[in-house]
Amino acid sequence: MGRFEGKVAIVTGAGRGIGRAHSLLLASEGACVVVNDFGGGMAGEGNDATPAQQVVNEITTAGGTAVANFASVSNWAEAEAMIAQAVTTFGRLDILVNNAGILRDRMSFSMTEQEFDSVIDVHLKGHFAPSRFAAAYWREQFKATNAPVNAKIVNTASESGLYGNGGQANYAAAKAGIASMTIVMARELERLGVRVNAIAPVARTRLTEATPGAGEYMAKKDGLPDQFAPENVAAVMGWLASDLSAGVTGQVFKVMGGMVQLLKGWRPITQSSDEMEWSIDSIDSASATLFDGQPRGVPPFMPDIE
Ligand SMILES: NC(=O)c1ccc[n+]([C@@H]2O[C@H](COP(=O)([O-])OP(=O)(O)OC[C@H]3O[C@@H](n4cnc5c(N)ncnc54)[C@H](O)[C@@H]3O)[C@@H](O)[C@H]2O)c1
Repeated sequence: MGRFEGKVAIVTGAGRGIGRAHSLLLASEGACVVVNDFGGGMAGEGNDATPAQQVVNEITTAGGTAVANFASVSNWAEAEAMIAQAVTTFGRLDILVNNAGILRDRMSFSMTEQEFDSVIDVHLKGHFAPSRFAAAYWREQFKATNAPVNAKIVNTASESGLYGNGGQANYAAAKAGIASMTIVMARELERLGVRVNAIAPVARTRLTEATPGAGEYMAKKDGLPDQFAPENVAAVMGWLASDLSAGVTGQVFKVMGGMVQLLKGWRPITQSSDEMEWSIDSIDSASATLFDGQPRGVPPFMPDIE
């Protein structure tokens, strides 16, 4: 018996890279998988059914069960139809892994409207739209049975969104939004028995192979464990999607090579209080307390891009 026997999962952006590894792991552990990918090229051109279908073929050849879905995750109606496809094809939905993503890196002063909008669209709306319809489905199940549904959402953030990489104003804003959305939806869905967590992965895929220096750093080294393989990230998703992680919700984990970290976001570091209304001068005085021992700026990060 696999860990996910009898479970039904959707993985978005599953035709390549990390999403492919997520799908293969879930299927190898017995889940029926909806393999979503609209087959976008690196430069945004797309609609190629091949990647999703290839992963479905890999799963079925290995004896697993999967069906392809070619939706663009940020399309509201297509996201709703994707959730419905899982339920009509396999009878239920237990796990949603939001993973689909693109990069359109550019320095903020050169970024085009299209580059900004497309990245926000695919990541931020592309996480929310499937989650929204999955949550509505689970709420109906909860109301029908009056029992927790024991479902999981695993989102995909990025350390870029948490620490702020230069050249990625669009991507970092979307990924930070995903980290916050993870906390919001974890709070909202806890009562229904749905846990919501996020991973901030680092793995060898076409995204990182195109990044100067990263390809070589993450290359498989002879005789050593392949810790930058997408499968290494999938294991963390698999733990979060399983009952082994019971009680874990609203959390963000970074997984990079052989290291996994629990990350925590915004929190007060220093504080100054006053019984009077604030003025510019009193804030200026308070700033001495706020920045006592704290850096006043952030180190510059100027990637070698326009
Ligand atoms: N690889 C890394 O080191 C790394 C680091 C941080 C975050 N991530 C995140 O991990 C996720 C997977 O990235 P990857 O490295 O495997 O990239 P990848 O390019 O190999 O795979 C992403 C897949 O998403 C699909 N996709 C893109 N837009 C889509 C849409 N609108 N609808 C459906 N499918 C769509 C693409 O066709 C592609 O197959 C992304 O969210 C990415 O931002 C990756």
